[in-house]
Amino acid sequence: MEKIFVTQPLLPSLTELDIHLKDIWSSKWLTNMGSKHNELETKLKDVLKVPNVSLFNNGTIALLVAVKALDLPYGSEVITTPFTFAATPHCITWNGLKPVFCDIEPNTMTIDAEKIESFITPNTSAILAVHVYGFPCNVEKIDKIAKKYNLKVIYDAAHAFSTEINGRGIGTFGDITMFSFHATKLYNTIEGGCLTFNDPNLVRKIYNLRNFGIQSEELVEEVGINGKLNELQAAVGLENLKLYKAEQEKRTKVKAFYDENLSKIKGIRIPKMPENVTNSYQYYPIVIEEDYPISRNELYDKFKEINILTRKYFYPACTDYECYKNDLAVKLADLSVVNDLKHKVLCLPYYGDLTIDMLNIICEVLKK
Ligand SMILES: Cc1ncc(COP(=O)(O)O)c(C=O)c1O
Repeated sequence: MEKIFVTQPLLPSLTELDIHLKDIWSSKWLTNMGSKHNELETKLKDVLKVPNVSLFNNGTIALLVAVKALDLPYGSEVITTPFTFAATPHCITWNGLKPVFCDIEPNTMTIDAEKIESFITPNTSAILAVHVYGFPCNVEKIDKIAKKYNLKVIYDAAHAFSTEINGRGIGTFGDITMFSFHATKLYNTIEGGCLTFNDPNLVRKIYNLRNFGIQSEELVEEVGINGKLNELQAAVGLENLKLYKAEQEKRTKVKAFYDENLSKIKGIRIPKMPENVTNSYQYYPIVIEEDYPISRNELYDKFKEINILTRKYFYPACTDYECYKNDLAVKLADLSVVNDLKHKVLCLPYYGDLTIDMLNIICEVLKK
C-alpha cells in the first residue's frame, strides 16, 4: 500500500502562483517586507481577528523574538508545558531564561492552569503556554495568574490557526501569540510564521528584532535577528489563504468519520474540543487507554507495517530531552499526567483528501 502520512500540505494552484511569480520577477523585489509580504500581513489581521500581525520566516524565530521582545530579566524563570514541540522550551533557553515545566490537563493536554501557581517563585517572569493540537489553554485562569503575579504571557498557537474562543481570535490573548506556517500546518507558507499582539508599542520593537534591529538606514535600535519572510513564500501564503477554509471543511468530514467509528471502541478516548471554541482541524489525536488490547507503541508499529504513518506527538516529552531531564526542578516536579499521556497519545492521518477507503482501513486497524 502507498504510504499514508499524518498530513498533506495545502498547495496553491500553479497557475495562480505563476501570476504572483511574474509580479515578483518584474518588481525584482524578492524579500525585505515587499508588497506580497505586506499584503499578507494585512489579510492575516482579518483572518486571525487580531490588531497586529508581524510575519516571520518560521515559527521558531517568531517565538524567539516574542520572548526577546518582552525584555524578561536575564536568567529568570518561564513556566511552560513539557507536552509540546522542542521549539517551545528551546526559545526560552536561547533567550538566556530557564524553562520551568508544569504538568498538563488530561483532556485538552494544555498546561494545567490550576497547577501554575505552585511553580511561581520570586524569579518567575512569564508563562509560555501552548494551544496544543488547537485545544485552547485555560486563557482566563492564566490571565488572572499573570495579573496577580505581574507576569508576561506568551502563547504558542502553532496548532491553532484561525481558532476562536467565543468568537474572539485566539491570537488576542496574552501579550504575544505565535502561529507557525510550516508545511505540515493546516495553513502554510512552506516555512513561516507570525506574531500577533494587542499592544501597539510592540510594533516597532518586533519590526526591529525581526530585521537585525535595523529601524532605518542609519539607525540600529536593537540586537535583532533575521526573521524576514520572503516574497515567494508570502505569495504561497496569499494563495493558501484562499484554500484553507475548504481544507477545514473537508477535514470536518474526516473528523466526523473518525468520531463516529472510534467513539465506540473500548480503550480509545477522543479528547473533546470545548463547545465555545472553533476547531483549527490541525490534528486528530486519540488516547490509547489501558483497557485497549495493545499499547500505543504497538499500535503505532502495526500502522507502520502497512505504511500508515501516525505520529507519537509528543513523545518524548520535553522533560525527557537530554538537555532538560537532569534539571533538579524537572526531577522534583509532579509531572504524572504528562508522563502518562506521552505513552498514550497517537495522532492519526488527518487531511482533506483522505478517501473513505483509507479511512476505513485506518478504523479497521483500530477496531481489530
Ligand atoms: C507547538 C509548536 N511550537 C513551535 C513550532 C515551531 O514552528 P516552526 O516549525 O514554524 O519553526 C512547532 C512546529 O513546527 C510546533 O508544533
